[in-house]
Amino acid sequence: MKRAKILVLPGDGIGPEVVRATLPILEKVASAGGIRCDVTEALAGGCSIDQHGIPLTDEVLRQAKKVDAVMLGAVGGPAWDQLPHETRPERALLGLRSGLKLFANLRPAQIIPALLAASTLKAEVVEGIDLLVVRELTGGIYFGKPRGVKTIGSGDKMEKKGYNTEVYQTSEIVRIARVAFEAARLRKKKVTSVDKANILESSILWREVVAGVAKDYPDVQLENMYVDNCAMQLVRNPRQFDVIVTTNLFGDILSDEAAMLTGSIGMLPSASLGIKKNRFGCAQGMYEPVHGSAPDITGKGLANPLATILSAAMLLRYSLGLEAGAQRIEAVVSQVLAQGYRTADLGGAEGQRLSTDEMAKRVLEAV
Ligand SMILES: NC(=O)c1ccc[n+]([C@@H]2O[C@H](COP(=O)([O-])OP(=O)(O)OC[C@H]3O[C@@H](n4cnc5c(N)ncnc54)[C@H](O)[C@@H]3O)[C@@H](O)[C@H]2O)c1
Repeated sequence: MKRAKILVLPGDGIGPEVVRATLPILEKVASAGGIRCDVTEALAGGCSIDQHGIPLTDEVLRQAKKVDAVMLGAVGGPAWDQLPHETRPERALLGLRSGLKLFANLRPAQIIPALLAASTLKAEVVEGIDLLVVRELTGGIYFGKPRGVKTIGSGDKMEKKGYNTEVYQTSEIVRIARVAFEAARLRKKKVTSVDKANILESSILWREVVAGVAKDYPDVQLENMYVDNCAMQLVRNPRQFDVIVTTNLFGDILSDEAAMLTGSIGMLPSASLGIKKNRFGCAQGMYEPVHGSAPDITGKGLANPLATILSAAMLLRYSLGLEAGAQRIEAVVSQVLAQGYRTADLGGAEGQRLSTDEMAKRVLEAV
């Protein structure tokens, strides 16, 4: 049996609850696919601040660099809210992102038939949605230089000027486009590249380079869309999308919009993929639910573990190459919900409302 090294960072609040409920499912499905998971646990976020004074130690980052994948719960909470920005728990995420060179953020939005009513949009609009937003994570306007705020003019005409720079180079676009096309190959084989090429030079380059990469994927259909149109199409006809690939800024906004189509924060998984290939020839990645540490429900057994369980499915797919295992987990999650079982956040009938551990156990038994 092959062995995969997984670093688990449960973090704070409900993080440890949802991660620990998920691990047996990950281990069972990986094992059925011929991979044994060697799991080590470490501190990141507020719990690391309490123990070591900083949200992410060099030692934990060193460990993270050596594994095939990282699984994270959530970080943060009221106990650390007063700390200065530079030392807050959330800095652990930034440290991991930059330390592992996680350049691609993948956020699926899939409507689970049993949860159609959870969306704020009409059922006939959201029914059948199954899309994936691939967001570039380390470039663009969030990091481009020059940036800053300076004073210009003099005397009465003195004022301030704030500025940032949207900048992408060919190699950055090529690598994110490849992630999108590879992901599309595992799905419905369509990539929508989103830009603002009618206004921005950086978008003109983006479009040119994506078209070049598309030549290596003749089995995948490429379409281009302006970001303003995409924002509109996502709520008008979201079923038209399979994989959306876009820049850091556009992806930040569109992935939140896409997430809201499905309605429930406790159901949303994510993956961030790095430059490095792991022992399985796949991308080293970090997998985490989209939600935070939910201090209001911590320790009550109320946390929905499904976002983390679906993140484990992404880990199997993108870091261990176990597509069948990933699909198995996703199918079982749909099945358990179709049977009427719910965690508190999803409502549900009396008698079918499950705690965090009970929900995870249902999934574990069925995978
Ligand atoms: N990636 C991360 O680690 C991450 C992301 C977002 C927020 N945070 C941090 O988490 C803390 C709380 O932030 P917040 O309240 O804005 O966002 P949150 O996602 O933690 O919670 C928002 C609301 O959703 C509910 N919720 C979240 N996850 C749930 C789940 N799995 N099951 C059931 N209900 C769930 C919470 O109870 C709360 O009512 C803050 O310290 C914040 O900085 C961390």
